[in-house]
Amino acid sequence: MTAAAHGFALVTPASRGIGFAFAQQLLSQTNLPVVATARKNCDEVRGKLLSCQGVPADAEKRLHILEVDVKDESTISSMADTIRQELPKTPLRLALTVPGILHVEKSPSQIDAANALDSFKVNALGPLLLMKHLSPFLPNKSAPAFPVSEGQLQLPSHAIYAMMAARVGSISDNASGGWYSYRGSKASVYQIAKTFDLYLRGRCADRAIAVALHPGTVKTDFTKEFWKGRDLLEPLDAADRLLRVIAGLRPDVDGGRGRCWDWKGKEVTP
Ligand SMILES: NC(=O)c1ccc[n+]([C@@H]2O[C@H](COP(=O)([O-])OP(=O)(O)OC[C@H]3O[C@@H](n4cnc5c(N)ncnc54)[C@H](OP(=O)(O)O)[C@@H]3O)[C@@H](O)[C@H]2O)c1
Repeated sequence: MTAAAHGFALVTPASRGIGFAFAQQLLSQTNLPVVATARKNCDEVRGKLLSCQGVPADAEKRLHILEVDVKDESTISSMADTIRQELPKTPLRLALTVPGILHVEKSPSQIDAANALDSFKVNALGPLLLMKHLSPFLPNKSAPAFPVSEGQLQLPSHAIYAMMAARVGSISDNASGGWYSYRGSKASVYQIAKTFDLYLRGRCADRAIAVALHPGTVKTDFTKEFWKGRDLLEPLDAADRLLRVIAGLRPDVDGGRGRCWDWKGKEVTP
């Protein structure tokens, strides 16, 4: 079995927080090549990932760090070009797209047009453009199945494309209001994941699925203002649990594809 037959994993962005933890887990728990992205300081991110506890020495050869800012589509298409060169004919086996920003708005009067546009660009347009440029790497319906076992993390024989949503993007769960642009932009991730999954059903059949994710409340820079007095998940724990949840989904219609899953394996309805 060639390395290309096992596919590659991708985490974007991986500069810090949950994305960094996903990349660390994939380097330590699988043998796959891992493409990880950052907006800047790629060498620094690479050094930090390689020096993490549990990351084996061979990770140096498997880790590819590329520069991507989701607000600039040219950086996303350059990433795709570089992947084609560095990992020729290698299918995308596991994608985690996680960009996210929050501009807090408690009431409509606090909405600032530039900030709101920024939220939609990163949280909604970002996943959409990543999907555009990464979908060609997913295996077609005639592609051979991936070998099932990969290191400590048992990956299935199909590809998984996961986009980070958030529980607060769920309309049915919204009981407290506020955070208009964050909620609005994250709500669209549920729809994008479902729509992309419908596309994959046609193009890839049971070889690839798309899902949205909710990580729980995780101790990262993102939640810094809300750390006090709360039960928070550590980023590594959240990443590990989410990876296990999505690795357990099946590609049949009732197997969980196209829906949003939390770190406990429970569905978050839109
Ligand atoms: N933490 C939680 O409790 C929680 C709960 C629900 C959902 N989420 C979601 O989970 C995801 C990760 O959150 P986190 O907690 O890890 O947050 P974080 O620590 O604040 O990290 C945010 C990440 O987004 C990146 N980013 C910001 N603007 C970007 C852009 N224009 N292009 C590319 N990357 C960009 C940041 O890159 P830089 O390092 O370059 O700034 C950073 O890697 C987000 O989508 C967030 O909405 C988090």
